[in-house]
Amino acid sequence: MTKIYRFSLLVALFFLGLIPSQAKEGIWLPILLEKYNIAEMHQMGFKLSAQDIYDVNHASMKDAVVIFGSGCTGELISQDGLLITNHHCGFDAIQSHSSLEHDYLTNGYWAKQRQEELPNPSLTVTFLLRMADVTDKVFNGVTKNISAEERRRIINSNIDNIEQEATKGTHYEADVKPFFNGNQYFLFVNEIYRDVRLVGAPPSAIGKFGGDTDNWMWPRHTGDFSLFRIYTDKNGNPAPYSPDNIPLKSKKSFPISLKGVKEGDFTMVFGYPGRTSEYLPSAAVKLLIEQTDPKKIAIRDIILSLMKQDMDASPKVRIQYASKNASSANAWKKWQGEIKGLKRMDALSIKKTTEQQFMNWVNLSSDRKEEYGNIFQKFDTLYSALAPYSKAYDYYNEIVIRGTDAFALALRIDRFLKTTMKSDPKLFDNELNELKTWTKRHFKDYNASTDEKIMRALLKKYNQDIETRFLPRKFLEISRILDSPEFSKKYYYSSILTNETKINALYDKFSHKEIRKLEKDPLFSLFREFKNHFEQHVDPICTNLNDQLAKVQKQYMKGILQMNEGKPIYPDANFTLRVAYGKVEGFYPVDGVYYDYYTTLTGIMQKDNPEIYDYAVPEKLKELYKNKDFGRYAMANGQMPVAFTASDHTTGGNSGSPVVDAEGRLIGVNFDRCWEGTMSDVMYDPTQCRNIVLDIRYALFLIDKFAGAGYLLNEMKIEE
Ligand code: ARG
Ligand code: GLU
Repeated sequence: MTKIYRFSLLVALFFLGLIPSQAKEGIWLPILLEKYNIAEMHQMGFKLSAQDIYDVNHASMKDAVVIFGSGCTGELISQDGLLITNHHCGFDAIQSHSSLEHDYLTNGYWAKQRQEELPNPSLTVTFLLRMADVTDKVFNGVTKNISAEERRRIINSNIDNIEQEATKGTHYEADVKPFFNGNQYFLFVNEIYRDVRLVGAPPSAIGKFGGDTDNWMWPRHTGDFSLFRIYTDKNGNPAPYSPDNIPLKSKKSFPISLKGVKEGDFTMVFGYPGRTSEYLPSAAVKLLIEQTDPKKIAIRDIILSLMKQDMDASPKVRIQYASKNASSANAWKKWQGEIKGLKRMDALSIKKTTEQQFMNWVNLSSDRKEEYGNIFQKFDTLYSALAPYSKAYDYYNEIVIRGTDAFALALRIDRFLKTTMKSDPKLFDNELNELKTWTKRHFKDYNASTDEKIMRALLKKYNQDIETRFLPRKFLEISRILDSPEFSKKYYYSSILTNETKINALYDKFSHKEIRKLEKDPLFSLFREFKNHFEQHVDPICTNLNDQLAKVQKQYMKGILQMNEGKPIYPDANFTLRVAYGKVEGFYPVDGVYYDYYTTLTGIMQKDNPEIYDYAVPEKLKELYKNKDFGRYAMANGQMPVAFTASDHTTGGNSGSPVVDAEGRLIGVNFDRCWEGTMSDVMYDPTQCRNIVLDIRYALFLIDKFAGAGYLLNEMKIEE
């Protein structure tokens, strides 16, 4: 047996449950911990019960964990509704309060008293009140011989009924979500709070230290946290912002431990992982490694390098494109880690072995042969049919939808015209105001020459890489002049989309005549051509193939569940509350190199470089370091801890999640994963997958010693 093959076999056996799981892999449902996990968690050192984590009748840990905004997690750390999340999760809120006079992004912000806590009109936090398995109710009335449409109709109507019943007479919100590709359904009843105020944030030089260079990487030194407070009306109920609102009386909050962590300690992450796809067939993984990820990376290579040229040359452009650059670079870097990791694991052979095992099981019974006999052929056929369309889809999405500023504005106006102009005239003023606000922010962060360069380069790539059948005819003409000044003159700069004054003049009239004029605008009409062509020739076929794939995937998942009956198996992430557990530990990223499990302030001083924006350490921090003024937050060896790694299975959405010790005390805040392990969204490798956690002692040290906001610690329960 070759080494790789043997390794693949081991991993496959592990997946099939034939080797006892080390249970570092897995994002588990809190209501099933008792059944599946708690015994093993105890073995690994956990001291509390499953009810301490999730209980509907008594306050439990789940009452201290929230969805922060729409894509992050946060946790309560005081009885007065104080919560902690990541700096990158609070970034929008911090930015929205920042101006040249009050630059909280650069300088940080600390409310010295409750009146100074800053409201954020569109920010919400969501508490889970309860969850329940509603699979039987969802499938009630669904029989074998009904049509797909009928099936969908019954399921949707059942879901509506369940949601209505769950919230009748309350201000709660309910959501029924599919698990295991639609083989199971769970109900979530939530309570949403709408007055969430910014309490504190370190300067970006701490909260974003290392920027995109260090992003996804270990060793890491980012102080990635921010503090917010939830407010309620006088009766303790959710309410929109009002100066009369009072701080939430927390049902439960996390005690904080200053005891620190050692390698091998139990840790648990409790939060909202967004999306994983662990049960894909090899055909899907092949498409991901060979096409989807590399193509998207290549497109973003162009965008990011052109942005960087201009950002390096001008501080103004650097600020304008900081946020766009960060979000584009984040996924771009993750995809690269993902391909590397999947190749290194030889994920394709592992999947093949797993599929062989599955077929062996299938072949033991004639019923199963009938149901699953040709499942992998079906996958292969559908994924090969999908490949060219999926490529056309990705290019359209990366280039037309999100690649350039001018098309982004076209998209926003197009949406306004299509929905608002046709809907209730009473809504018109509101929607128009929103469009105006959006546009103002858009132009604030817009540099025409940067965007023009990016657009030309992207359109050239589009033209080179994509079959003509997926491109609108008009573009084929334009593509000939992409290298000549004619494009700039006749298209880019003569478009109203590149001119704020003209756009505002349009918003002020919006007559039919003006709209017809807009429809002839060179870039707006080009955008529409792309969009129409995509909607006719790409999207319907993609949707159809993906629907078929979803059906086959559901069937495959059903088989996997059947084959593993009685064994713990976790559903893919779907932005519902989950538990991941593992140990504090480092890893060997390459032969001969061991990554220690923690970093310290010393590392920040080593990275210090006033010349490089992302590595300029604030003077105050240097001073504290020089004087070793670490208070009670230092480790036993006198060093100031910053971050640590653990083997908890996490993904995007877990940002801001509480990381707790064996006693359920907060020891850190999750904020990233190590690059070598980012393939865990598709396949988990226990030797390489590590989440990155902000050590809570660093956060408290910054609040206390750096910011002088120690009064905030008075409301926390801190165990030394
Ligand atoms: N990689 C982390 C996560 O996926 C942090 C992202 C924000 N930081 C950044 N430098 N872009 O979301
Ligand atoms: N930074 C990610 C987030 O915003 C978490 C890192 C990950 O993907 O594991 O959710």
